Amino acid sequence: MRLTVLGGGGFRVPLVYRALLDDAGDDGSGARAGRCTEVVLYDTDRRRLDAIGAVLAEQARGRGAAPAVRATTDLDDALRGADFVFSAIRVGGLAGRTRDERVPLNEGVLGQETVGAGGVLYGLRTLPVAIRIAERVATVAPDAWVINFTNPAGMVTEAMRRVLGERVIGICDSPVGLCRRAARALGVDPDLAEYDYVGLNHLGWLRALVVDGRDHLPRLLDDPAALESFEEGKLFGATWLRALRALPNEYLHYYYFNREAVRAVLQAPATRGEFLHQQQEGFYAEVGSGRGGALEAWERTRSEREATYMAENRSATGDWERDSCDLDGGGYERIALALMRAIAHNERTTLILNVPNRSAVPGLDADAVVEVPCLVTAGGARPLATGPVAADQLGLMLSVKAVERATIEAALTGCRAAALRALALHPLVDSVRVAERLLAASGLAPELSDHVG
Ligand code: G6P
Ligand code: MN
Repeated sequence: MRLTVLGGGGFRVPLVYRALLDDAGDDGSGARAGRCTEVVLYDTDRRRLDAIGAVLAEQARGRGAAPAVRATTDLDDALRGADFVFSAIRVGGLAGRTRDERVPLNEGVLGQETVGAGGVLYGLRTLPVAIRIAERVATVAPDAWVINFTNPAGMVTEAMRRVLGERVIGICDSPVGLCRRAARALGVDPDLAEYDYVGLNHLGWLRALVVDGRDHLPRLLDDPAALESFEEGKLFGATWLRALRALPNEYLHYYYFNREAVRAVLQAPATRGEFLHQQQEGFYAEVGSGRGGALEAWERTRSEREATYMAENRSATGDWERDSCDLDGGGYERIALALMRAIAHNERTTLILNVPNRSAVPGLDADAVVEVPCLVTAGGARPLATGPVAADQLGLMLSVKAVERATIEAALTGCRAAALRALALHPLVDSVRVAERLLAASGLAPELSDHVG
């Protein structure tokens, strides 16, 4: 089985490769039939491909059944013969991420990779490339399954779906991370619980945690100490969670505590993009220089990256540090592998994924990509019915879905009015004037036209 990774020079690729190594077994003799035997890394940047290639080579050392690795900068070459395609690209690199964060912050509104105006700008930047990739997959590897973790994952998956239909599935690690942390706080084995999670990507809620037919979430919501023992509990605080009667995805901190989050990001010496830009430059330069071990440099950089995740949100809520339970979030690489296995071997599995709604969430249309538990088989992923959604949750989902669709329209047609609508209608942008200035400052406006759509 061949897996192609788009964004193959990306920093998180060794996580995927490690998951494949663990799946393969150590000596090759016990390797399971149908496992991944070949990984093709595609990237536009040869230097990054070489650095990640060096990390993977060290990971594979002494592992008999290690999947072969090949790197290329030719997209069609990478796609041809692929069974699965992981898309994890960052259009514009970390310089682009920085710009998409800074431009809104200069207006005093949230600048973040996927949430608020920053997410819209990042979407405008990313969608044209994602759609072109989907078109190449449809032409060169029409039977391949595409697993999308390119952000903003919800709108990118929805746009790619228009080309690839059911063959593209979006993933994110934050819902499973929340579910597992909540189960552990309850003293429940995370693998034995069922989770009633509903939302859009980075905009969802855990509404019930069921073991043996009984919902244990009320017990957690009424236990402040247990609640504040893990990431989301500390971010949102026991009082608010008890009032809300659900556990929100960590990205909802930018909504429920917008002022505090924006203030903390503005006060920080660097945005996340700026911090990572510098950190990652250092990593790729270090590995490129050939000094020292590539894998050691990667491990060191990775633990620093994880420890500093959402640092501003944490500094706004008491300056706490992430501990080991927060760091073991379930891992996007494990979700990707579980999804791949379920499809390749028809192992029926339930995973929280980004797929078209069909009729799973009442109040959202059938084509809207939602993030909900899905039943995965060889035929793909089908969303499971969620039951009615509270008005505040549905209202937010509808607003943000309208923003996503305006962004997709702008990216597909180049229509400036659609881009303005996307920015101005976002619940975290407080004035049309702000949206106009954001569009002008984004650096993306020259590609938009007043005469389309
Ligand atoms: C989580 C989210 C991803 C996001 C990442 C950002 O894993 O689920 O969608 O890309 O965090 O992490 P970073 O280290 O790049 O800020
Ligand atoms: Mn995510």
